[in-house]
Amino acid sequence: MLINPKPILFSAVQPSGNLTIGNYIGTMRHWSSMQDKYECLYCIADLHALTTINKKKIKNSILDTLALYLACGVDPNKSIIFVQSQVHQHSQLNWVLSCFSQFNELSRMTQFKIKKTQNCIKNSNVGLFNYPILMASDILLYQTNFVPVGKDQKQHLELTCNIANRFNLSYGNIFTIPKPIISRNGSKIMSLLDPSKKMSKSDPNKNNVIFLLEEVSSIFFKIKHCITDSENPPKIYYNTHKKSGISNLLEILSTITNKEIKILEKELNGVLYSEFKNIVSDNLSKFLLNLQKSYVNYRNDEFFLNTIISNGAIQARLKSEETLKKVYSAIGID
Ligand code: TRP
Repeated sequence: MLINPKPILFSAVQPSGNLTIGNYIGTMRHWSSMQDKYECLYCIADLHALTTINKKKIKNSILDTLALYLACGVDPNKSIIFVQSQVHQHSQLNWVLSCFSQFNELSRMTQFKIKKTQNCIKNSNVGLFNYPILMASDILLYQTNFVPVGKDQKQHLELTCNIANRFNLSYGNIFTIPKPIISRNGSKIMSLLDPSKKMSKSDPNKNNVIFLLEEVSSIFFKIKHCITDSENPPKIYYNTHKKSGISNLLEILSTITNKEIKILEKELNGVLYSEFKNIVSDNLSKFLLNLQKSYVNYRNDEFFLNTIISNGAIQARLKSEETLKKVYSAIGID
C-alpha cells in the first residue's frame, strides 16, 4: 500500500464577484508555497456562492476565479483544483451532516448574523443559514488535516470540528479532525473607510475595497481617501485598537513587500500619512499589475481552464467518494 507522506490541506474561495486583496492576503497568497508541504485541494465554492451571487454570472466567475488561482501560483500538476458543484459528494455529505448539526449552533455563527442583516430579512435565504454545514462537508470529505483560514472563518472551522467529533463519537473515527492554519499578519484586511469591519467583496461602497483585478489608477484614489487617525504629531505604528486604519495599511504593505511590520515601522519613522499612503499605493499597484498580467494570460485560454476543471472533478470525486462510502456505511444506508 502507498503511504501518503504529506498532510492534506483544503482551501476554497467563493467565485462571487471580484476577489479582493483581503482574499489574497488572508488566503490565496499562501497557496503556492503550501503545495510543496501539503497535498493540496483548492476548491472553487460555487455552491456557497449561490447564497449571495447573481446566479446568471456564475459560470464566468468560476473561470475568472480559476485564472486567479493559477496567477497566484496554484499548479494543476501539484494540486487538485476543482469546482464544488461538479463533485456531487459535497451536497450528499451536506445533507447527512445537517442531521448532525444543531439549529442553535448555526444561529450563533457571526458570519450568518452579519450576512442576514446585510441581505435584509426579505432576501435572506436558508442557504445562508446552512452555509457552515456545506463548508464542513467540503473539509471533512477529504480527511483534511489543515485548513488555511482568515480570522472570520475560524468559527466555521470550529463548528466543522464539533460536527466531526459528534459524528465520530457515535460511529468511530470516520472523519479526520482538521486544524486551522492562521497566518500571523494580514489574516484579516479591513475596510478602507471603516477599518472596524472586514474588507468584503460584497460591500456596497466600492471605496472600501480593493479588488485584485482593479484598475491601478483607482487604487491611488482609494488609498488616498482611506481613513487614518488624528494623532498629533502623526506617527506610523501598529496598534489595531488605537490606529486601525494605519495598522491596516501596514498589514497590506507588510504582506506585499514581505517585510516585517516592525521593520516597516522603523523605516516609516517620521513619514507623513500622505507619503505613507503613496508608498502603499505604489507597492500595491506594482504588485497587482504583475498579478493581473498573469491572470489575463490564463483567462484568455478557456480550453485550458476547462480541462483543469474536468480533470480536477475526476480526482476530487474519487477521493471524496471514499469518505462518503464510509459515512453511508456507518449510518447503515450503503
Ligand atoms: N466560506 C469560505 C469563504 O467565503 C469559502 C469556503 C467554502 C471554504 N468551503 C470552504 C474555506 C472550506 C475553507 C474551507 O471564504
